[in-house]
Amino acid sequence: MTSMLELHTITDGEVEELRAALMTTFGDDADDVDPDGASRFRALIPPGRAWVVRDGGQVVATAASFAHELVIPGGTMAMAGLTMVTVRPTHRRRGLLRRLIDRHLADARDHGEAVSGLWASEAAIYGRFGYGVATFVDALEADLGGLEVAAGRELDAVTWLDEPGAREALPPIYARATADRPGAVVRSDAWWRERRFLEAPFSRAGASRRRHVATRRGDELTGYVAFRQRSTWDAAVAAGTVEVLELVAQDARAEATLWRFLAGIDLFPRVSWGLAPVDGLLPWLIADARRVRRRRSDGMWLRLDDVAVALAARAYADDGALVLDVEGTRVRLEAAGGVAACAPSTATADLTVDRAGLGSLFLGAVTATTLARAGRAHGSAAAVARADRLFAWPVDAWCPEVF
Ligand SMILES: CC(C)(COP(=O)(O)OP(=O)(O)OC[C@H]1O[C@@H](n2cnc3c(N)ncnc32)[C@H](O)[C@@H]1OP(=O)(O)O)[C@@H](O)C(=O)NCCC(=O)NCCS
Repeated sequence: MTSMLELHTITDGEVEELRAALMTTFGDDADDVDPDGASRFRALIPPGRAWVVRDGGQVVATAASFAHELVIPGGTMAMAGLTMVTVRPTHRRRGLLRRLIDRHLADARDHGEAVSGLWASEAAIYGRFGYGVATFVDALEADLGGLEVAAGRELDAVTWLDEPGAREALPPIYARATADRPGAVVRSDAWWRERRFLEAPFSRAGASRRRHVATRRGDELTGYVAFRQRSTWDAAVAAGTVEVLELVAQDARAEATLWRFLAGIDLFPRVSWGLAPVDGLLPWLIADARRVRRRRSDGMWLRLDDVAVALAARAYADDGALVLDVEGTRVRLEAAGGVAACAPSTATADLTVDRAGLGSLFLGAVTATTLARAGRAHGSAAAVARADRLFAWPVDAWCPEVF
């Protein structure tokens, strides 16, 4: 039966079919939801990096790769971004996801990408394939009505940007502000155009168009917030919500300014943001921190495919050496003066961890101590403590991009 299920790289003529199968499996209809989706697909997915499985004539499974550049401690590295993974309900649990992931990883190797990243629709799926949670996000909901934000602080000025102004101003601010933020994805012009500045009925979901406000210090723009407004009234009392799409600030002063601005929009006392970083300042800028409710969940997941290449690519805040055993692959990592070398080793392992666990350690979002206490990593107390010091990084990981 499986012999009929043929997996192949799509031609340009199959983009619409891939998208139709993808949307159907996610419970939507391609035409209604996103009529321009095919042209966006072509702008963002490099040729030859999307796959389907057909059963007879019908597309029954899909997957594709973005060619991302991932910010890691001390720099960036190429990352294959696994996306658009679907298997029709008629063909589930027959190994099609496994085949698609194998193809994605082989393709990533061909492109010299030592790591693969994804956002998971369900948390139980990808651990078995070596992906671990590498960044976390907070979904924020705050009622800021009547609260003073950042009292007594020196703040930046704020500027309302029109659409052309936002298209020009935001990309360089984002690039500056995320250059040292592990987990952020470098944005191409196409990504800004097709994803961040996309204005489609499905992206609005009944709220206003995108608005943009930037912070200014002298001649320099220091941050921005992109948001929508959802107007609601509660028994003639204004109870609108500002829905933050993204808030990016190059430093604390700009961040405080943006929160002060958001808290002061008349008729909109509530603010929500689904993808806030875990180190966001808002609760610390107000006197009543319980006005901010936070629900933490997994963000981007990472799989280190070439362990030695990936570990040597990042910088380390501490010096030291560690022999790691990752599912039978043994490597020795040595960091000195911020620079690392990593090579195969036959020495006794200091720390044994599975590939998914290593993905969670990689950007510093989870400690070796936590994994060891959970029974997911093994080593002496001294080795685990050394791993904690090595993988720790002063800037919390954050991926502001669902892909
Ligand atoms: C998730 C999905 C892609 C799985 O596809 P599939 O072809 O049924 O998966 P496979 O048969 O290749 O399963 C491979 C392994 O993953 C496990 N698995 C698959 N889906 C799972 C799920 N939702 N939860 C837990 N385990 C899952 C299988 O049990 C199997 O385990 P095994 O190797 O130990 O036997 C498919 O159910 C789907 O399209 N879901 C809706 C869309 C979606 O969520 N896509 C993912 C986007 S990130």
